Amino acid sequence: MNAIAKSIDSDRFDRCVSASKSRDFETREQVLLHDRYDQCISASKRVRWDIDNDVIRGRRFDRSQKYLPDGLSLVQEFATLSEDEKRFVSQIQGLTYANMFGLVERFINAKVLEIGRDHWFGDQVALEALVRFSDEELKHQELFRRINQMVGETLPAGYCFDVDPNAVAEVVLSKSTWAVLALTLDIELFTQLHYRQSIDPDAALSELFKDVFLYHWKEESQHAILDELEWKRHDARLTIDERDKAVEEFIELVAAVDRILQAQAASDARYFAATCGRVVDEKEADAIEVGFLKAYRWQYVHSGAAHPKFGKVLSSLITKAQGQRIGAALATLQ
Ligand SMILES: [Fe+2]
Ligand SMILES: [Fe+2]
Repeated sequence: MNAIAKSIDSDRFDRCVSASKSRDFETREQVLLHDRYDQCISASKRVRWDIDNDVIRGRRFDRSQKYLPDGLSLVQEFATLSEDEKRFVSQIQGLTYANMFGLVERFINAKVLEIGRDHWFGDQVALEALVRFSDEELKHQELFRRINQMVGETLPAGYCFDVDPNAVAEVVLSKSTWAVLALTLDIELFTQLHYRQSIDPDAALSELFKDVFLYHWKEESQHAILDELEWKRHDARLTIDERDKAVEEFIELVAAVDRILQAQAASDARYFAATCGRVVDEKEADAIEVGFLKAYRWQYVHSGAAHPKFGKVLSSLITKAQGQRIGAALATLQ
């Protein structure tokens, strides 16, 4: 009896293996998709870095240097400030940069873990690519906590970033996956532009902050590829009405990000005025707040939305009218 039972089990096992193989790779497109996930794993292994040994390397931040490059801090917009004050603005923005990434990487990681579930019993290579993505985002959150503390130690007391990453994640994750993945691709593409800005020749720019941009970019590059794959995979399941609602939710998410940026620009302008060592009148304070907001909108919304890759993927998924709605919403954030 045992031999018969074993033989039946063996037959069933063979059928399962055969069914599994055909299920995994039914079409040429599935094979190509599998390869793209596989390439992300290879890239993840190749560029893997360590916070202390590769990025920080025992270094400290130095107040005589800029923390963010001019192309991100937009210091030329702060027309009334001296060169030393402009450098201070770049340092305040460096602290906000670490806080903002600590914030967005919380909801990105939660979403990656959630969509990873779709691959539990499917392509295990896709699952591994997303597990590595999640692991890297947890490391990035730790990196930005460390940078936050290190930058904070160099600046005067009084800086405030009063936004709870978990509360923001809850709001973001209440929207559709399509909308969250759209925002995520925007974010992960703008880290590439931020890195490019940081490699422009500028002897006054902090070498340590340059390495933060460099190492973050190295792992974000494959995240952006995975965002695209997952966004398209998810999009293929939606009805026309569901996609239309998702477009609206993406616009709502961008507006929610902008409300955070507006509050932080006001907070950072107040902090600058209180700690710059001279009197800043109301008119100048308003102009400084406008400068912070313009820089933050550039850093956290427009630099990703204007990325050619973002436009290409987005326009492949939506109608012209939906694209115009998104364009009109972004145009209000100037
Ligand atoms: Fe990251
Ligand atoms: Fe990422």
